[in-house]
Amino acid sequence: MESKGLVLLITGGIWWWWLMRVAVSDPQTNLLNEGCSTYNASSVSNFYSNLNATLSDLKTQLNDNNHFATAERTRTGDSVYAMVQCRNYMSTKDCVACFTAAQSLIRNCSAANGARVIYDGCFLRYESSSFYDQATLPGNAAICGNQTASQVTAFQAAVEGLLADLEVATPRTDDFYVAYKKEVVGGGGATVYGMAQCAETVSPSACQECLKVANGNINSCLPSTYGRAVDAGCFLRYSNTPFFADNQTTNITPFLEKGGSSKKKAIIGGVAGGVGLLLLISVLFLWYQQSRKAKAAPRGDILGATELRGPVNYSYRDLKAATKNFSEENKLGEGGFGDVYKGTLKNGKMVAVKRLFIGQPNRAKADFESEVKLISNIHHRNLIRLLGCCGKRSELLLVYEYMANSSLDKFLFGERRGALNWKQRLDIIAGTARGLAYLHEEFHVCIIHRDIKSSNILLDNDFQPKIADFGLARLLPEDKSHLSTKFAGTLGYTSPEYAIHGQLSEKVDTYSYGIVVLEIISGRKCNEMKAEPVGEYLLERAWKLYEDDKHLELVDESLDPEEYKAEEVKKIIEIALMCAQSSVSMRPTMSEVVVLLRSKGSLEHGPPTRPTFVESSKRNPGDTSISTGSSASNATASISHFSGR
Ligand SMILES: *[C@@H]1O[C@H](CO)[C@@H](O)[C@H](O)[C@H]1NC(C)=O
Ligand SMILES: *[C@@H]1O[C@H](CO)[C@@H](O)[C@H](O)[C@H]1NC(C)=O
Ligand SMILES: *[C@@H]1O[C@H](CO)[C@@H](O)[C@H](O)[C@H]1NC(C)=O
Ligand SMILES: *[C@@H]1O[C@H](CO)[C@@H](O)[C@H](O)[C@H]1NC(C)=O
Ligand SMILES: *[C@@H]1O[C@H](CO)[C@@H](O)[C@H](O)[C@H]1NC(C)=O
Repeated sequence: MESKGLVLLITGGIWWWWLMRVAVSDPQTNLLNEGCSTYNASSVSNFYSNLNATLSDLKTQLNDNNHFATAERTRTGDSVYAMVQCRNYMSTKDCVACFTAAQSLIRNCSAANGARVIYDGCFLRYESSSFYDQATLPGNAAICGNQTASQVTAFQAAVEGLLADLEVATPRTDDFYVAYKKEVVGGGGATVYGMAQCAETVSPSACQECLKVANGNINSCLPSTYGRAVDAGCFLRYSNTPFFADNQTTNITPFLEKGGSSKKKAIIGGVAGGVGLLLLISVLFLWYQQSRKAKAAPRGDILGATELRGPVNYSYRDLKAATKNFSEENKLGEGGFGDVYKGTLKNGKMVAVKRLFIGQPNRAKADFESEVKLISNIHHRNLIRLLGCCGKRSELLLVYEYMANSSLDKFLFGERRGALNWKQRLDIIAGTARGLAYLHEEFHVCIIHRDIKSSNILLDNDFQPKIADFGLARLLPEDKSHLSTKFAGTLGYTSPEYAIHGQLSEKVDTYSYGIVVLEIISGRKCNEMKAEPVGEYLLERAWKLYEDDKHLELVDESLDPEEYKAEEVKKIIEIALMCAQSSVSMRPTMSEVVVLLRSKGSLEHGPPTRPTFVESSKRNPGDTSISTGSSASNATASISHFSGR
């Protein structure tokens, strides 16, 4: 290898040598994701002999110049279903080498009867039941580079275009695989490289759906120089450096034309034609199948499911045990929709369990199930993941991933006040905007949160924000839903048109977001009247300071003034005030907010207009959260316009 490289180095230069090295001999065993189920085989010897047989089957098929293979052994019990896929740009030799590395790593899962290893070059997975048709499942994720590309705007535009093309073209190809590159327009000859691939056993529509989710995930990497998104049934990668050879590029043009050109055209056409109905039917059908499978699976399998399984139906007894019978000691908080408890499942995994009282079960159970299914399909790194649920008469338990760092309000006004620096606050502002933009515009159903506030924004270990409680309003029976109550959401965060007239649109969330941003900047609660210097709520105060060009006075005193610049503070406050304008149509959409936050320099939108100030005649200083139901309908609200300009 070295000598071949050396010859090319002399003839073609370093660049070509690098390309060749990539193309000719690299099993690409950079580890992206791995996992073992905690459920063990019942007969270890049966299991190992099944596992050994399937793995050796897979290897034989790869040696036969295949890039994709499945194998299973089911006869003796402790069944093993296995799948391997190499990226199609890999040579047979590299593919087998990648598989061999994956195999030795996956064997470290010992008797666990479910496991996966995902490398850049290949992935290997086995389970105790068939998973070949699985595409997008909880557990998918983006893996991002930590360096920002130069010429951010041009780079970002090129990558977004590239990924969009990959998303469209890949499900239309015969082998569900595209490797492709694009020039960065105005990028001084720079190029971006991308690759997408689906497991060959999923349907074209499942491939499409999976890549859509992957694209949503990987987009959060931008403007990093590279990123990957992994899921059960697909893989997506982009980079500013080549990871496949020039002659491995797919001719993508025929697949971008309307309808595509492969034999899968008819199916795609069908799906595209009757999108709504067909998608709904297939989602319901898949869900029906999944729920049947879940019921049929042994208990251990459910609790020990590897992360890439679908939403789980938990047993009430298990959740009761996990939360120590919903004890006070395990209580994490109380929200408008119900209390939240910390739970430890039998397999040791920590979860947050939300207990909803849904009252008289006057809606069909199927309704809840389809709503829960919908919510559990929302995957975005700034949104809390719903892992599963459990329904019991008038109670509904929702199981979420657990966030050790708790909620943003604790860091702004609570016990950990002052712990967030300026950079972390900016990240939280941007991440929350991305999460909301996803809910409003990118998910296939527009979901309005209706209750954005700092206690609904949780922080992960890296202080990245994750929005909680989305989609829950859809679960409540009509008569209790936010729509029909005069005053919903939480005082201070609720936009005037929604508070007073119940007019609901996604701009309701934009407004609340603007208020949260002001809280993040100021470290002050939006609905607390501060006596000094004059009695004013946060929004009034922010507006006045902004008008008088004294916006720096709004900034949290616990922040080090060295950390932030005056223009930056002004820009963020301007965006927040723009979001909180009383005219619904003048508020930006959340995707516009994402762009505004990224943009350098001043805003083109022009200065924000004066907000309207909402006051409530029923303000309880200790407990500011007004829940739905009886207390909500008692709350009355009045609007006071500021006189003068
Ligand atoms: C599975 O086996 C591993 C290693 O033998 C052990 O540590 C683990 O506790 C077992 N898990 C279960 C659920 O029995
Ligand atoms: C399976 O393969 C492993 C590793 O090659 C070996 O150690 C083990 O004995 C094999 N087990 C069976 C039951 O064949
Ligand atoms: C498997 O685990 C052992 C012991 O923890 C470790 O020494 C070995 O490197 C692991 N193998 C791989 C391929 O990671
Ligand atoms: C990026 O990550 C690599 C490996 O984790 C690390 O060595 C490097 O210092 C990081 N660079 C930056 C700019 O954070
Ligand atoms: C790509 O180019 C390399 C070196 O030029 C060559 O060895 C290889 O066979 C080519 N692959 C294809 C698919 O043409």
